[in-house]
Amino acid sequence: MAASPQSIDDVAAGLRSVGYLPGESTALVSFLAAKLGKPILVEGPAGVGKTELARALSTYLGRGLVRLQCYEGLDEAKALYEWNYRKQLLRIQAEAEGAGWQEVQDDIFGAEFLLQRPLMAAIAADEPVVLLIDEIDKTDQEFEAMLLELLSDFQLSIPELGLYEAKTRPVVLLTSNNSRELTEALKRRCLYLWLDYPTLEHELEIVKLHAPELGDAVARKLVEVVAMIRELDLKKPPSIAESIDWARALLLLGADDIDAQVFTETMSIIVKHRTDLDVVAERVGLKLARPADATAAG
Ligand SMILES: Nc1ncnc2c1ncn2[C@@H]1O[C@H](COP(=O)(O)OP(=O)(O)OP(=O)(O)O)[C@@H](O)[C@H]1O
Ligand SMILES: [Mg+2]
Repeated sequence: MAASPQSIDDVAAGLRSVGYLPGESTALVSFLAAKLGKPILVEGPAGVGKTELARALSTYLGRGLVRLQCYEGLDEAKALYEWNYRKQLLRIQAEAEGAGWQEVQDDIFGAEFLLQRPLMAAIAADEPVVLLIDEIDKTDQEFEAMLLELLSDFQLSIPELGLYEAKTRPVVLLTSNNSRELTEALKRRCLYLWLDYPTLEHELEIVKLHAPELGDAVARKLVEVVAMIRELDLKKPPSIAESIDWARALLLLGADDIDAQVFTETMSIIVKHRTDLDVVAERVGLKLARPADATAAG
């Protein structure tokens, strides 16, 4: 069933109902995007729920999800459309011997010979979809420029066919890890959502949602420890994804507390750099080993 949200609270409740716990601005920006038909540019560190937001929106809105995973060197043929050369060749061979060039050409450059790639598929869909353009910062600026036509006018120019207008308007989400600065032109066309590490209570809720059997006390300690680790100056601070993994691991191991031993055994689930491991073992491991001393000393 396609949902049409009437308020920010609608969106917040809808996202929750499909297992995504949005922060305030997430619900607000998603609501505006659905209403104004503007794309959302979602930025933030790794593992804070950028990609998941697109999935959740598609489920909640009852729309299909079309996903374009970006990478270096991604080109139009993989993102927009390609001519189906094999089919064209077969047609040429099947044409009667005497067919003129013009006839053949008119024939093989029709919509029937187009292979739709995600961007085109998203605007050619009969029912509106959610279009996720994931990790746009991995592509180059030329690709961004190509996207602009699509995002502002919802149309494509195909040299052999002319202008191709969108049949339906997708809700568009672009995500970026900030590995390069995006162009002003792109930003101007988008609503902006910065997703950061969640607050303690928010993360606790997310962890409980993904690992409901985990005891309250352990779950709280887990998010407290994770928050403490994020304060350290690490190469790669633990994300929500890692908190969830850790919660599941603790459940499997039957741990009912996070003491120094449990922490040492399992910390590689949340910290994944050799140098980070040393820092965390020293700073956090010690604190867990002698909580009373640490308070007395600090
Ligand atoms: N608000 C939330 N509610 C429920 N689950 C969440 C929320 N935020 C994140 N998660 C969970 O955290 C995990 C990581 O999220 P996701 O893959 O979307 O991160 P990301 O920001 O796209 O990371 P990356 O930049 O590495 O691609 C997912 O398993 C998702 O279910
Ligand atoms: Mg992602």
